[in-house]
Amino acid sequence: MNETLIQLSRDKLDKLLDDIAEKEWSVVDNLFPESFLSALKEEVKLYWAEGEFRKAGVGIGEKLTVRPEIRSDRVLWLDDAQLTPLQQQYWDLIEELRKELIYNFFIGLKSFEAHFAVYPAGSFYKKHLDQFKEVNYRKITCLLYLNDDWTDADGGQLRVYHPGDESSFTDIIPINGRFVCFKSSSVFHEVLPSKRERFSLTGWLRTI
Ligand code: OGA
Ligand code: MN
Repeated sequence: MNETLIQLSRDKLDKLLDDIAEKEWSVVDNLFPESFLSALKEEVKLYWAEGEFRKAGVGIGEKLTVRPEIRSDRVLWLDDAQLTPLQQQYWDLIEELRKELIYNFFIGLKSFEAHFAVYPAGSFYKKHLDQFKEVNYRKITCLLYLNDDWTDADGGQLRVYHPGDESSFTDIIPINGRFVCFKSSSVFHEVLPSKRERFSLTGWLRTI
C-alpha cells in the first residue's frame, strides 16, 4: 500500500481508554484501514510460506523452553531495527496509543516489542498472564488479528478472564482487523484450539 498517514479515530481511542480504565481490557474493531490490514496479511503469509516462523516458547532468559502442552503456536519476532515500511506504520500507530496510555494512566511506557503468530490447525495457548514472573516490564498487550472470514465455528477464540472474577470470561473471535488490548499483569487469557490456520500480530508495550 502507499504510505498515506493513518489516523486513529478519536472515538475508538477513547472507547479503548475507557474500557482499560473500567475493566482492564478492550476490543476495538476497524481501528485500521482495510488496505493496511490486507498488506499486513500478505506480508505475514509470505513469511509463513517462506518458513520464517519458529515454535513459540514459554518463559524468559535461561528458562525459555518450548512447551507444546502449554502453547503450540509459531512466532516470528519483528526486529525494530529493521522494520518493513508496513511494520513501521504499525509501530507509529502503537506510538500514538503509547502516548495516550501514558497521558491517561501515568504508566511509564518506553518501548514496544512484537511478533507475528500463526496457530496452525489444532493449536492453542493455555490460560496465562503475559507478564513474566521474573520481570515486570510488559505492561500492555496489543493483539491485532489478520484472518479472513473467521467465524465461531473456526475456534481459536481469545478467552479473556475478567480480572477480579475469573469464573467469568468473554470469548473473542479473531476476526480481521480486530484489535484487543489489555493489562499484561492482571488479565488472564487463553487461545482456544484453533480449527484453521490463525494469524495475528502480538505485541507488548514495556517500561524498559
Ligand atoms: C500471547 C497470546 C493471544 C492471541 O501470544 O501471549 O496470548 O489471541 N496470544 O493470539
Ligand atoms: Mn498471552
